[in-house]
Amino acid sequence: MATNKDIAAAMTVKLEDIFETLPPETDFQQGIRRAPARNFTLSTAETKLALKNALRYIPEKWHARLAPEFLDELLTRGRVYGYRFRPSGKLHGRPIEQYQGKCLEGRAFQVMIDNNLDFDVALYPYELVTYGETGQVCQNWMQYCLIKRYLEIMTDEQTLVVASGHPAGLFQSSPQAPRVIITNALMVGMFDDQDNWHRAMALGVANYGQMTAGGWMYIGPQGIVHGTYSTLLNAARAKLNVPAQADLGGILFVSSGLGGMSGAQGKAIEIANGVGIIAEVDPSRIQTRHEQGWVSQVTADPAEAFEQAQGFRDRKQGAAIAFYGNIVDLLEYAVTHAIHIDLLSDQTSCHVVYDGGYCPQGLTFEQRTDMLRSDHDQFVHLVDRSLKRHFELVRTLTASGVYFFDYGNSFLKAVYDAGVTEICKNGRNSLDGFIFPSYVEDIMGPVLFDYGYGPFRWVCLSGKAEDLEKTDQAAMACIDPDRRFQDRDNYVWIRDAGKNKMVVGTQARILYQDALGRMAIALKFNQMVRAGDIGPVMLGRDHHDTGGTDSPFRETANIKDGSNIMADMAVHCFAGNAARGMSLVALHNGGGVGIGKAINGGFGMVLDGSRRVDEILKRAFPWDVMGGVGRRAWARNENAIETVIAYNQNRPDTDHITLPFIPDEGLLDKVLAERLEADDSDG
Ligand SMILES: NC(=O)c1ccc[n+]([C@@H]2O[C@H](COP(=O)([O-])OP(=O)(O)OC[C@H]3O[C@@H](n4cnc5c(N)ncnc54)[C@H](O)[C@@H]3O)[C@@H](O)[C@H]2O)c1
Repeated sequence: MATNKDIAAAMTVKLEDIFETLPPETDFQQGIRRAPARNFTLSTAETKLALKNALRYIPEKWHARLAPEFLDELLTRGRVYGYRFRPSGKLHGRPIEQYQGKCLEGRAFQVMIDNNLDFDVALYPYELVTYGETGQVCQNWMQYCLIKRYLEIMTDEQTLVVASGHPAGLFQSSPQAPRVIITNALMVGMFDDQDNWHRAMALGVANYGQMTAGGWMYIGPQGIVHGTYSTLLNAARAKLNVPAQADLGGILFVSSGLGGMSGAQGKAIEIANGVGIIAEVDPSRIQTRHEQGWVSQVTADPAEAFEQAQGFRDRKQGAAIAFYGNIVDLLEYAVTHAIHIDLLSDQTSCHVVYDGGYCPQGLTFEQRTDMLRSDHDQFVHLVDRSLKRHFELVRTLTASGVYFFDYGNSFLKAVYDAGVTEICKNGRNSLDGFIFPSYVEDIMGPVLFDYGYGPFRWVCLSGKAEDLEKTDQAAMACIDPDRRFQDRDNYVWIRDAGKNKMVVGTQARILYQDALGRMAIALKFNQMVRAGDIGPVMLGRDHHDTGGTDSPFRETANIKDGSNIMADMAVHCFAGNAARGMSLVALHNGGGVGIGKAINGGFGMVLDGSRRVDEILKRAFPWDVMGGVGRRAWARNENAIETVIAYNQNRPDTDHITLPFIPDEGLLDKVLAERLEADDSDG
């Protein structure tokens, strides 16, 4: 059996080469949000296994010192984070020249990772959580250090493989291959549930990546502002008869959550010139959004919140009001006082309701955090009770004409899991969906995803604001605002993006575009890099998109041919992007909605100005999107069929997507009725 000495001698990438001596214990900066203790349920034997697993990263000389420390982290926090290996002070995505590396991609990914862990950007930076309550860059700081070292030494003839945060190593490949391949929390079907995932996380063998956390592509809450803005605009057009050219002046939107993604809601409604009241139980998150200017008013009094909102509505002035308190209490007030709300949603982290994502009515944020640790069973009981009341209030409000939609946070599923079967269309289970629509089912799906519009994003790796300004201008020049109303919305969005001051962290931008729009902008940017007009650029997207995500309660909620329970598309998207040479490809379990409820794939693409990259952009960008439009067309979605017909006609030499024939409904009804009649008469 090899000794630890043999093992150390056989590795050139290891912690003892990064740290000459054991780094000191972490000096936690006050005022930085900390993750709640995760529910610790490991047996003694499993606890020993978790310690053995964590010590795999640690040279033997530090085992005696770190074994009790890791045990303490596990017992008090529910995970081994290896805090002392975190670089001290604030991390942030620095200009790319400041990073070491043998290839541009290796340096670019370090920028992205550090941005994901920035105190100003990440939800729980010390616990490596970027957003969505549990979405982590990797599991622990040992992995962070090793990934960083691998990225520093990686050449363009190698690929780094990362399995649930664990850097499995560098393997020989080629400049045409991805530089990094990431998977997160891909669990074998029969174990693919919350309990087994919890156990795997505590054992140190799984990481929940959400998407842009574990796929290193987060760009702060801006990433979701454009999608939220489009959702609100199109919800109002579809349900409140707001004309396509008008803004949302005078319209009231009520929701909850000012966290990672949900923090975009205030900004989005204000940009659309509507009025938003967003409930939030955690004062630190309200403070962050207030300091950023993403909410303009703060009050803990529901009466005051609605009064202020009415003033802004009367003046047709955009405003975002943070209500410091529980969303259920805010809705109780609205129901009791018969206040009219136009648009209603919820963006608490319902994908992890029992892990702290949803604060039950009656508990303050601090009490919720304490109870999570001290009495988990009682916490579960209170969450279920609160969700039931929440559901009743939503039902009362919708009965009075309010338009409610699920915001992709598994709210409807969480209510169902709390025991409310009335929320199911069939009154029994979730197979036929829920009585309230998800925003994808009603709005984003038919209006955007079926055409291929999705969250194209970029980061100017130079860190220069002027590069971002130049890319904004270049992207705007690629859009024809007169083609469709969606293009007009996107044009206005990018025209005003700088003015709306949305950058938090790296110099990044989001811009919804369709397949060929994304390709055209990507090629334009690469040409600008080649000409030396701007520094290198990272392209990516999130999971809230046409092609990369199979998520029946969200992205694929408007797929009605029964295939919404399949995950083939996300896997094909991931594999196809790898085959076409995207710089980074990632595949995750659970993004946005929780373990076992979605599979989502993403990418990162580094623009270095080369012709090689031009070729990748031409092959990979249409694929990344059109695979999804094709699947939506096959599910008989009308707008997707139109989009594929045009695509097949425009690109006959390169692509060909299979389209469905549509049978006559009457014919099928007749055939079925005849057979049933015949069966009846047969006895
Ligand atoms: N709409 C989208 O496009 C989209 C995109 C990504 C994710 N999501 C989903 O939205 C949810 C929120 O994401 P996030 O990144 O903002 O998560 P987050 O955990 O950072 O934020 C959720 C916020 O809700 C607050 N909260 C919890 N219970 C509350 C209650 N009862 N009343 C008031 N506030 C309460 C929390 O304090 C927290 O700040 C997640 O489920 C996520 O998967 C939506």
